[in-house]
Amino acid sequence: MPRTPWPVSRRQVLAAGGTSLLAATANATRAAARTRKARAAGSDGTPEQIHLTWGENPATGVVVSWASPEAATRPRVRIGQRVIKAEPRQYTDGISGETVRTYHARVDGLRPGATYAYAVTADNDGNAADPFTATFQTAPHGRAAFRFTSFGDLGTPNTAWMLSYGQSAYAVDAVESFQPLFHLLNGDLSYADLNPTVQPEVWRDFGNNNQTSAANRPWMPCPGNHEVEFGNGAQGLTSYLTRYTLPDNKVPGFGGRWYSFRIGSVLFVSLDADDVAYQDAGAFVAGPAALTPAVSTGNPAIEPGTSFYIRGYSGGAQTAWLERTLAAGRRDDSVDWIVVQMHQCACSSSATGNGSDLGIRQHWLPLFDRYEVDLVLNGHDHDYERSFPVRGADASAGHEVATGAVVDTLRPHPITTTDNGVFDTSQGTVHLILGCGGTDVPLDEYGTDAADAQRQAKVFTRANRPLPTAAADVFTRAGADAAEDAVWSARRDTTTGYGIAVFDVNPDPEDFGGHTAITVTQYHAMGADPVNPATGAKGAPTPDYTEFETFTLVRPRRA
Ligand SMILES: [Fe+2]
Repeated sequence: MPRTPWPVSRRQVLAAGGTSLLAATANATRAAARTRKARAAGSDGTPEQIHLTWGENPATGVVVSWASPEAATRPRVRIGQRVIKAEPRQYTDGISGETVRTYHARVDGLRPGATYAYAVTADNDGNAADPFTATFQTAPHGRAAFRFTSFGDLGTPNTAWMLSYGQSAYAVDAVESFQPLFHLLNGDLSYADLNPTVQPEVWRDFGNNNQTSAANRPWMPCPGNHEVEFGNGAQGLTSYLTRYTLPDNKVPGFGGRWYSFRIGSVLFVSLDADDVAYQDAGAFVAGPAALTPAVSTGNPAIEPGTSFYIRGYSGGAQTAWLERTLAAGRRDDSVDWIVVQMHQCACSSSATGNGSDLGIRQHWLPLFDRYEVDLVLNGHDHDYERSFPVRGADASAGHEVATGAVVDTLRPHPITTTDNGVFDTSQGTVHLILGCGGTDVPLDEYGTDAADAQRQAKVFTRANRPLPTAAADVFTRAGADAAEDAVWSARRDTTTGYGIAVFDVNPDPEDFGGHTAITVTQYHAMGADPVNPATGAKGAPTPDYTEFETFTLVRPRRA
């Protein structure tokens, strides 16, 4: 089905799929009239931005979350004969002063590997006569085959917002086209922080765009630098945390920021790399004007040159949790694979993007080595890059950009540089940069060392806090301070900055005796770059995702 132009509502899009466009339009008109009526009554509790996440056990539970324009009365989910009350959760945006209302219904006690239909409604649902319905599937029990997909850096399709782009809608459609059990969304979700006076409106467009897929299968996120918003909590994550209910990490004070869950023989670990990355890339007032919150918030103006830098916020609690979680995973004979999701990158050689970060290499790569993490999925740079399996570090392999002086960037050491399409990740971790979701500004331009023609990566080895510029009250943040030859880089997509990775877990493949396998295929949206950096060709959003490359990860099966 061709994508209906934004901002036609999801209900219209869904309706148009199964009925005539005329009927869909009539339905939409009636829905709009109901919505107007509900709003006139002063309480529009119509569910929107509906999305699923896994419950504590993905084989038996999900959480249904949504928002409504105004307070919903008796918000609830209906599933079979059960009616499950939703827990309301709200916050007041620290810049606009607008209150955002969300609802979370925990649906437990389900059967593994089963398909369920559910409905979302409230007493003051404008669609009460015909509430929103969708279906989802629970995770399989035991060592079973399943598929998941991933990308980060999505944005919204509403190009009124900074960094939003039409590809964002096609990217959501792409997830649906592959019908994964669930999707990993690797940070930088809506970019609301770049539209600071209208953050809730940007999140609303993000949520309504995602609903096309996220109401049908869990979308599991991690925070990126753009989730760090002024005025919204100690780490600026209140918008994110209010919208998502995520598995409990049991670390007091840090719920939702990082978590793990288990599906089949795979342990998934989701991290907040804002806690360890050196790069300062959260909310920022560049100036010359201050950012002035609405009077109702009582918040003072945020002066030019202010950035929201949260490195180290957990005081080591996240890294300690990570070590406990990885150790427990490797002690468990029913776990073959460990897949880590985080936004910022240890292995990215984007030239126009952010590059790699020494903070992740210092704090987390030694743990990935010790506990044999198989795969790390990132976003942050808006492109696709795959590393060789890496283990350990090459000492003093970097240099300072400004002076050329030697810097120890802890360059990840590739255990092979033979790109034969099959990699044993018990020997080294493969890193994938998947910031190829849908946001504007593709960063598919990669570094080359002019001296030796080798691939080159930029590396942040220290904080790039705001610096004054020649213009009065205007500040900037510098790019990465160091560079290295990127000997770990195996494949980079120079044709487009947009794509989606599809992972097929095959616990007992016939053709890799004694091993278990994950087949990875990267599909890309050729021609979606507004301007391709390599060729200068002008492009536009496209629904066509075609195969870029496929490869297989293997490791010995446990027990
Ligand atoms: Fe980012």
